[in-house]
Amino acid sequence: MLSRCRRMRLVLALCGLRLVSAHMAAWHPGMYCLKGTTPGKDDSDTSEIVFPLFNLTKTDWWFHHYNGCDQFPPDKGVFLELPANGKFTVELAVNRAFTSLSYGGSRVAQFGDGRNDIGGGVDCITRIQIHTQNESMAAGTAFAISYQSELSAVTPENLVVFTTLFHTPWKRVATYQVPNLPACPPGGCICAWGWVPNGCGEPNMYMTGFRCKVTGKTGSAAVTTPAIPPTWCEDKPNRCTTGPRQMIFWNQLDGNNIDVQGFDLRGQPRSPAYNSVLGFKEGAQTDIFGPAGSASGGSNIPIPWSAVLLSSIVLFSNLISLTCI
Ligand SMILES: *[C@@H]1O[C@H](CO)[C@@H](O)[C@H](O)[C@H]1NC(C)=O
Ligand SMILES: *[C@@H]1O[C@H](CO)[C@@H](O)[C@H](O)[C@H]1NC(C)=O
Repeated sequence: MLSRCRRMRLVLALCGLRLVSAHMAAWHPGMYCLKGTTPGKDDSDTSEIVFPLFNLTKTDWWFHHYNGCDQFPPDKGVFLELPANGKFTVELAVNRAFTSLSYGGSRVAQFGDGRNDIGGGVDCITRIQIHTQNESMAAGTAFAISYQSELSAVTPENLVVFTTLFHTPWKRVATYQVPNLPACPPGGCICAWGWVPNGCGEPNMYMTGFRCKVTGKTGSAAVTTPAIPPTWCEDKPNRCTTGPRQMIFWNQLDGNNIDVQGFDLRGQPRSPAYNSVLGFKEGAQTDIFGPAGSASGGSNIPIPWSAVLLSSIVLFSNLISLTCI
């Protein structure tokens, strides 16, 4: 056992890689924790952000605070760009080494661990901790957006799921659709990638932070907040919550926004996921917007001062016209 482990370490060391606990994260230059969590170091082999979140306090799981990832924003001016009504691509991988962001992309392959096959397993895929039996069983992943420029201002209520990608994580390259998002404030937005796997290991969750901005012909309708938690509705599709929804926060010590009991329609213990079991549609979420024109100057501050001013002018002139009758 020991010698096998030693051999593995040796092989990995020879490959120039540390022994990593392989889980997944979404990689892009606009991400938090791209360089790892050692100040001043740009770690080509980091996997800090892929560590799963399980049974942690909200302070610790929120944007991967427990190992410091939220303290390492992307370089100034670097954003995950979201083309309104278009699509964007990230890489789902177990380590930065296996993305195009390290070693000039020389270690990339079809899958996020630098291999072109996924390997097997009796019930679950075992070589790479992708928490699934096969592609069709992969639980799904999502991106959410907050129209806040500072991570400290992001809350579960203003971080709205805007796109899902069913049957992921699977291959390394993952492309997500963007709805008609309005522009971000001048300092950009904060985005998050989320994954809640279903079975094949610890029932944990994953959260990667990004600085993001919406590009192209941006929409005029604001993303409505507060977002509400998704609910289990696999067996009762008319019970699904709709409209702007929060990310899934599950199996933590606190800060959870969903609780499930019993079994799903396949007879497996219920596990919330970014797919139809919670009523998420695949792709761009188009039911998250307020009325056309509600996005004022690229921010979604609920009541812009101009509106307050306008309504008081209207009220005032109404009062005048009333007294003049
Ligand atoms: C979760 O953490 C608490 C407090 O640290 C501990 O008592 C409990 O056993 C943990 N639960 C699981 C399922 O690990
Ligand atoms: C995927 O795995 C599930 C659960 O083990 C199984 O029911 C299904 O037949 C598999 N699908 C494929 C395409 O292998």
